[in-house]
Amino acid sequence: MINKPTSVWIDTDPGNDDMMAILLLAQNSLVNILGVSTVFGNTSLPKVTRNAKFILDLAKRNDIPLFAGAEQPLIRDQICADIHGESGLDGVTLVEEDLMVADKAQEAIIKALEDAEEPITILALGPLTNIAKLFTTRPDLISRVQRLVIMGGAITVPGNKNRVAEFNVFCDPEAAESVFNTIIPKTLIPLDPCTSVVLTDRDIASLPNRTVGTTLKRILKPYIENICIFEGVQGALMYDPIAAYYLLNPAAFTTVPMDVRVETSSKGLTYGMTVAERRIIAERVFNMDVVTEVDAKQFISAFLAAIKEMDKCDE
Ligand code: RIB
Ligand code: CA
Repeated sequence: MINKPTSVWIDTDPGNDDMMAILLLAQNSLVNILGVSTVFGNTSLPKVTRNAKFILDLAKRNDIPLFAGAEQPLIRDQICADIHGESGLDGVTLVEEDLMVADKAQEAIIKALEDAEEPITILALGPLTNIAKLFTTRPDLISRVQRLVIMGGAITVPGNKNRVAEFNVFCDPEAAESVFNTIIPKTLIPLDPCTSVVLTDRDIASLPNRTVGTTLKRILKPYIENICIFEGVQGALMYDPIAAYYLLNPAAFTTVPMDVRVETSSKGLTYGMTVAERRIIAERVFNMDVVTEVDAKQFISAFLAAIKEMDKCDE
């Protein structure tokens, strides 16, 4: 587990699993969340931004500044998700989204990087549009980033948006390819270690019937139903919270250095596919560490403990 304060910026498209990732980190006193930026993805930018505000309210963390980012991909047409519902957090009543001014995120992340005393960890939980724009416009800030931790891609398993592409990368393949080519310490949490890690009905039933526990039970019900329909899995898939947990306990993960690229030239079947060089070849060039395994028991136990701790304040 981390043993010293770590400054983090979260870029996100809430999204049920984004919500659980933010709750996990917001609860940890060693994680200094400098800001949250939103990006289109699981639903529209106004809705994901409204949802991010809902989540920070739920976590009683309105001290964390929130900024709206990119409304659409760099080049491709926008696509939508299936498993998070129309609002992105189906299951609870949400206020109407007030259209926050888009792309304020860029100046906010830039200021956070410029002002930080120590390099920052960036956690990217949605399409990589904001991150690609950041490093394209301000490559000088790369040195202010401790590590870029990305949830996205699929290396040895099928995609979850189509037969080859993972959702975050497929939403903006050009942005992902740009970020993957950026020379910066990166860790990728692809679908591979996530597909077998679910929060079961039994796990969810163990949560306290207090504010956070009750809200999670309400929100996760339609999420689990959609996952069963669209992904054929029984339980809540935990893509983003697993990526967040990497910041808390990297020792629970197995990583392999790889060179991973994104297919952007084909607009056909392989568009948005993440392609890893895994041959044992002479010239090994790596552009990231790729997570191949996670200790699922440790992760689920840590997540449930964080939610129970958060609800203790509700007593
Ligand atoms: O493919 C899973 C990713 O796409 C997660 O970040 C989920 O929230 C969606 O954005
Ligand atoms: Ca997400």
